[in-house]
Amino acid sequence: MTIAVAPASLRPLSRDQIDQRLKHCPRLPSLSTINSALRELLSADQRYTSQVAEIIRRDPSLTARLLRLVNSVYYGLSTPVNNIEEAVFYLGMRQIRQLVMVTPIIEDFQKLAGKAQFAWRDFWQHCIGTAILTREVIGTLRAPSDEVDYVAGLVHDVGKIAMAAACPEHFEAIHQAREISGESLMERERMILGLDHSEVGAMYLKSHNLPDALVDVARYHHTPELASHHTQLVAAVQIADLMVRHAGIGRSGEDAPVSADDWLNAKGWGILFPEQDGFENVDSEKALARAALKRSLERLPTILEGLV
Ligand SMILES: [Fe+2]
Ligand SMILES: [Fe+2]
Repeated sequence: MTIAVAPASLRPLSRDQIDQRLKHCPRLPSLSTINSALRELLSADQRYTSQVAEIIRRDPSLTARLLRLVNSVYYGLSTPVNNIEEAVFYLGMRQIRQLVMVTPIIEDFQKLAGKAQFAWRDFWQHCIGTAILTREVIGTLRAPSDEVDYVAGLVHDVGKIAMAAACPEHFEAIHQAREISGESLMERERMILGLDHSEVGAMYLKSHNLPDALVDVARYHHTPELASHHTQLVAAVQIADLMVRHAGIGRSGEDAPVSADDWLNAKGWGILFPEQDGFENVDSEKALARAALKRSLERLPTILEGLV
């Protein structure tokens, strides 16, 4: 096995060090096109909550920060807010404008550091594609009741953004080492930083008081069999993530190819459609779900066009 190459001076960090950095980095950077679309809309004479929410729904960073804000301002709500439009409504335009004004732009941020560019726009597409498909996967089981399905898919890889913001040198080394070494992205993250993006994402969301369902999705989206809560949601996100990577839609930062077998036989299927004695139609339900999802996957590029 080859060893990931990182500068000799760059040591992995301890969990506590990473946690401290994440706590002090509440402002996740956002994509420039979305930030300018939102600024434009906010300075228009007339705008509606739904229009503002529609733009925020295309941005995992802004979504995470919006939910953080609404759940800390309205701390103590019996159920945490995980619906974007509701969050915009609760906070009001003034607060949203403030949120947008202080949002760093992810592209600038890397230019300043003089580093090679990570394909952020493609990464945003990966997140939105996963969000849309997560709803579709859940939709094969039941009518989606809540926007949490979409939001969970949108922020599942927020650990990569948090890592880029809180530990930029490590992030850079992880993605440069890609060309040279043969390990998976998660292995490289653990070797170079000390933790992988699923754990970093979960720690970020947890330390900023986001709903537990989102924390669980971030932590277990590559290992849904380890989750003990929100298992269907975690499983749906695993399948959605593999589907978009298989179809080559956007880029997740993990370039290892995903085969049709990988998503069709993902562990998540066993969670969504558990084998039950006496129920022989599980296999046919699963086959129907997979066929419906294949059709959704074909439509996805058209839906994503022009979104970011
Ligand atoms: Fe991931
Ligand atoms: Fe992903």
